[in-house]
Amino acid sequence: MTSKSGSFTHKLPGEHVYEGVLFFEYSPPEVLDRVKDFNVRDDDVFIVTYPKAGTTWLQEVLWLIMNDGQLKEANEKQVYFRSPFLEFKDTVLNEVGLELAAAVPSPRVIKTHLQKRLAPKQLNDKNCKVVILFRNPKDVCVSYYHFYRSSSSMGNFKGSWNEFFEMFITGHTGHGSWFDFTESWWHSRHNSNVKLIYYEDMKKNLTKSVEELAKFLGRSLSHQNVDDIVKHCSFENMKTNPMTNHEDVYSINKNISPLLRKGTVGDWKNHFTVAQSEVFDKVLEEKLGHLNIPFTYKF
Ligand code: A3P
Repeated sequence: MTSKSGSFTHKLPGEHVYEGVLFFEYSPPEVLDRVKDFNVRDDDVFIVTYPKAGTTWLQEVLWLIMNDGQLKEANEKQVYFRSPFLEFKDTVLNEVGLELAAAVPSPRVIKTHLQKRLAPKQLNDKNCKVVILFRNPKDVCVSYYHFYRSSSSMGNFKGSWNEFFEMFITGHTGHGSWFDFTESWWHSRHNSNVKLIYYEDMKKNLTKSVEELAKFLGRSLSHQNVDDIVKHCSFENMKTNPMTNHEDVYSINKNISPLLRKGTVGDWKNHFTVAQSEVFDKVLEEKLGHLNIPFTYKF
């Protein structure tokens, strides 16, 4: 799938390149153009993640924090309608993230996987909040591989793990290079309206994460609210909850791999060979080593 020089030689159906970043048909150029001028509101909360970092988990947590732990509505409406995916367009169902986002009531919880330079320009001027979620990139890579296998929106990928591994480390995956995405947002982490969190910390102590996020977002939650959110957002609950598990999404074949697959830290060890892990470490060091990002898997 890659040439000796590492350049990409295989094109999956539906791929296109927008301003140097690879996308699939569900993020078409006209939507990506419009995203830049999206009207941001001061009370918006943006969730910024690379695909498979635990976006859906954070969407559910943040939506509940911003809605005072209202389990009733969360149990009645799909998470992707409550918390729209900004740069998404489904021509079959006629769903456009930009339009869903314009229609949901404030305070909105909006998901994006875009690199910073492609995100709405107003993110820099408004008082909105931005929560960036990072995850051990080896686990992201494994999770994305299974998503590519199961989702028809990812070019009907039929390749092997080894092929996907090459695609990931050379930046040829949907929404572009994980390395570029990560670097683009890392530089914003000290802005007062930005909070950077890690999937591994949410796994270690979700109660603490919920409390810290609520504080950052200026929401006061009772102990009961926090407990309810933590229980509602457990992997087991979200996996069986039809409002969060995406089992009704026609493009995902859950028999190949469900969206809520394992929800663990360190599954990469079941996929990476020792050589692949070493290559990954080397590429990570070359590309992002100077940033000293504390990915938990290193410790
Ligand atoms: P795995 O494939 O490793 O299981 P995204 O929402 O960004 O597409 O990320 C999907 C990943 O987040 C999947 O990882 C999924 O299992 C995990 N995930 C979703 N909800 C979770 C939860 N409540 N707890 C832990 N992990 C969760």
